Amino acid sequence: MKNPWKDLFKNPLIENPLNQPSEHSRRKFLFKVAVLLNGAVGAVLAVPVLGYLLGPVFKRNDSYNHWVPVGNLEQFPPGETRLGRYRNPEGTPADGQTRTLPCWVRNIDNTQFQVFAINCAHMDCPVHWFPQSKLFMCPCHGGVYYQDGAVAAGPPPRGLYQYKYKVAGNQLMIWAGELPTLSTQASVAKPGSKTCLG
Ligand code: FES
Repeated sequence: MKNPWKDLFKNPLIENPLNQPSEHSRRKFLFKVAVLLNGAVGAVLAVPVLGYLLGPVFKRNDSYNHWVPVGNLEQFPPGETRLGRYRNPEGTPADGQTRTLPCWVRNIDNTQFQVFAINCAHMDCPVHWFPQSKLFMCPCHGGVYYQDGAVAAGPPPRGLYQYKYKVAGNQLMIWAGELPTLSTQASVAKPGSKTCLG
């Protein structure tokens, strides 16, 4: 008796319609389209991941920062802490007044300064200076800082962020652009700490 499967395995193109030449080329075409689509989706998904992973490699240090004036020296009498203002160098003209940012300037002895970011090191609320008690206080969760920016009480895990500064002629300049973050060194206790000087 003749085996009906014998011919099929011998020459599958005869019986299997999926192996007809036109069907075969359509399957190849669809396979290529699927590979191309998957490649395109993979490339789109890879861009942000690669950007995240390689960004720090290509980012120049302090690329956003510039020296900007924060005021004349007369605005900051020795032994006092006053509010200073600077124009964010990374802004655009459309930013208007929002481009002007505050900071606290402490003139220690006319040769040494400390320039503090306005934002609390806990959750970024603006801190206020109280000259009577010589303390910075945060209205949000009761954080308190000494006049040199070190933590006195409350939840802040570190001292106030500080800007690098330099004196140019009659101007006090700070190194600003990027808002201070945890990667920026903060005051711990010592006034005029070298880590914060320009
Ligand atoms: S934000 Fe200042 S203590 Fe929480």
